Amino acid sequence: MIKSDFPYFANNNTVYLDNAATTQKPKCVIDSQIEYYEKYCANTHRSNFGDANKATQKFEDARKTIKEFINASKIEEIIFTKGVTESINFIASSFAKKFKTIILSSLEHHSNIVPWHMQKRSLGDGLEVVKCNENLDFDFIDFEKILKENPNSFVSISHISNAFGKIHDIKKIIAIAHKYNAVVMIDGAQSLAHMKVDMQDLDVDFFAISAHKTFGPTGVGAIYVKEKYLKDVTAYQTGGATIHEVDFNNSTLLDSPFKFEAGTQNIAGIIGFAEALKFISNIGYKKIESIEIDLYTYLNEELQKLPNIIFYNEIEDSIGSRSFNFKNIVHDDIGILVDKMNIALRVGHHCAQPIMKQLGIKGTIRVSIGFYNNYEDINTLIKALKKAINMLEN
Ligand code: ALA
Repeated sequence: MIKSDFPYFANNNTVYLDNAATTQKPKCVIDSQIEYYEKYCANTHRSNFGDANKATQKFEDARKTIKEFINASKIEEIIFTKGVTESINFIASSFAKKFKTIILSSLEHHSNIVPWHMQKRSLGDGLEVVKCNENLDFDFIDFEKILKENPNSFVSISHISNAFGKIHDIKKIIAIAHKYNAVVMIDGAQSLAHMKVDMQDLDVDFFAISAHKTFGPTGVGAIYVKEKYLKDVTAYQTGGATIHEVDFNNSTLLDSPFKFEAGTQNIAGIIGFAEALKFISNIGYKKIESIEIDLYTYLNEELQKLPNIIFYNEIEDSIGSRSFNFKNIVHDDIGILVDKMNIALRVGHHCAQPIMKQLGIKGTIRVSIGFYNNYEDINTLIKALKKAINMLEN
């Protein structure tokens, strides 16, 4: 029923289970972008003719939609970026030098590790990593110990692990960090497709969001910056539309968000992003969560029946992605074989090499579901996995 909103499924027999990598796009998202290109294609915040004003209006309406969707308090707090990777790079470049210590979790994606290395932070040199146990649980005792030894730090942690689907209790993490006067950024790349996030309730300082992992277009995202930190963020790129006044001696920048959005933006993408969030609102997170919890539980039950399967975390406190291996089978081989059977999933380190190293593995087979998947998809996956295991064992 839900799949009918997504043209991909009408055109494709693939059993799509790679939603942590990117989600499919509903027709309303695709149509909103086509409408911009076909009917009122013009640049924003520059020219002053009919279509340019309409494009600017739609672009700013999109910002308002995002602000309301995540319950930010001010429109200025929403800054458009290319996605979570750019959001984290942007904030890392602004804040790394202002903080002596950067604190990450063991489960971070490379996008929340490498930008800190680029700012010359590494283990033993201003970078601390909170331990997790063998079930990938965040070690709150270790976290408090690090914070006690390094007050006034910058904490940058994922909400949901892209590699394992493990959910961090970010509300608790933020509250503890604030107790030690730390500032917190959350990598929310995997959040919005699965659950509601509320900036006021979380009291988070920075929150990075992705459109394409949330049924929206690729190449678009945003960073929420709590109002009190806007003055501390530095524009790491400047140019057209960021400027108040320029002469050959000096430039003065506009206020947020405009001073951070240099050059022509991905206008169609941003309009599509807002459409994706409206699409989610129309369905409602209550429905999305109930479908997903059901499916995720079923997926886990069926996977458990397969011989020699190895999991790395329990399904409690996890959502979306389920990662596993089979004893004596190379994960890449499973990926190649199930692809021939029309199953889309990801095998490998999932851009999370540090946690793979901690677990002593090179990678996993990752099945990542979206709310449009169904039991039939899981049944087809299980059949394909059984066939692949048989082929590889014989
Ligand atoms: N970060 C994306 C993934 O987990 C690309 O697959």
